[in-house]
Amino acid sequence: MNFSWQKPVLFVLLLSPFLVLVADVFLGHLIDPVEEITNPTGQWAFRFLLLSLLVTPLNQILPFSIIKYRRMIGVFSFFYACLHLGIFLISQEFSGALIVEDIVKRPYVTIGFLAFILLFLLAITSTNKMMRRLGKRWKKLHKSIYLIAILIAIHFYWQAKSSMDIEPMIYTLIVLLLLSFRVDWKKWLK
Ligand code: HEM
Repeated sequence: MNFSWQKPVLFVLLLSPFLVLVADVFLGHLIDPVEEITNPTGQWAFRFLLLSLLVTPLNQILPFSIIKYRRMIGVFSFFYACLHLGIFLISQEFSGALIVEDIVKRPYVTIGFLAFILLFLLAITSTNKMMRRLGKRWKKLHKSIYLIAILIAIHFYWQAKSSMDIEPMIYTLIVLLLLSFRVDWKKWLK
């Protein structure tokens, strides 16, 4: 069977939150554009990051392989993270002093920034050429995706207006669940 349509369909699906945002901007649906773009782009970046982490355990139980979609999902996570950061930079009027002040003074921005740098490293080394060039080091580097997920869960918690905000808790639970899939329980429980 020819599955060549699957990747273009996935591409459109992953792009659709962006298209909705663009439509909202042009149709004037946003009352506070900075906040209403910052939050969804951050959430989509995090959702796609978690989805990319779900691919490996899901692949082990499915009767067909879905590994070939992991890279596209991960790259889209980075795409939304770039939009998220871009809006933040616009909100700070691209002022180097304001941006540095935020990174230094607001711990959730520091953590977000660190996660972004790591995500950037994963995105630029996601090509086949880089995979070949880095060899074994590629796997080691790409394991930092779990660290990024933890950092973003913290980022989400710290930026929340209330400590009782349920959303960061749900995302943290998902991160913990995904991490638990990667633990070799047999070895640990011996
Ligand atoms: C330099 C890097 C980053 C900066 C400066 C930054 C900044 C921000 C800001 C200003 C907010 C909104 C805070 C508020 O509403 O008061 C936010 C929220 C958020 N960010 Fe980031 N962020 C960064 C990186 C990331 C990355 C890499 C991700 C995901 C992969 C991410 C995911 C989120 C999420 C999920 C939220 C919460 C959205 C919500 O409340 O609905 N951020 N970030």
